[in-house]
Amino acid sequence: METICVTWILQDGSRKTAAVETGGNLMEAALDNAIDGIVGQCGGSLACATCHVVIEEAPAALPDISPDEDDMLDMAEPERLPGSRLSCQLLAVPELDGIVLRVP
Ligand code: FES
Repeated sequence: METICVTWILQDGSRKTAAVETGGNLMEAALDNAIDGIVGQCGGSLACATCHVVIEEAPAALPDISPDEDDMLDMAEPERLPGSRLSCQLLAVPELDGIVLRVP
């Protein structure tokens, strides 16, 4: 199974980097790695925004924000920022090897 390197910047400013198997999404990867602040309450069905992250570095273009993701981001807590995404909507694909996500 191929893996990519994903880094989260935690709320206390520390960083955690993990090898993430491709195929899943980055919310699931956060749960697998016990990333504080990522809950994934709705299981990835775009109904919670508890998988909110802010993209700090993206090695490739990310998929466009869908209208449903856009609506849910407007309800995110803490507030939506430039670069905010719902990590359940981001697949771990080889092009994103090295991505850096901040937990808001
Ligand atoms: S896990 Fe609920 S919107 Fe991403």
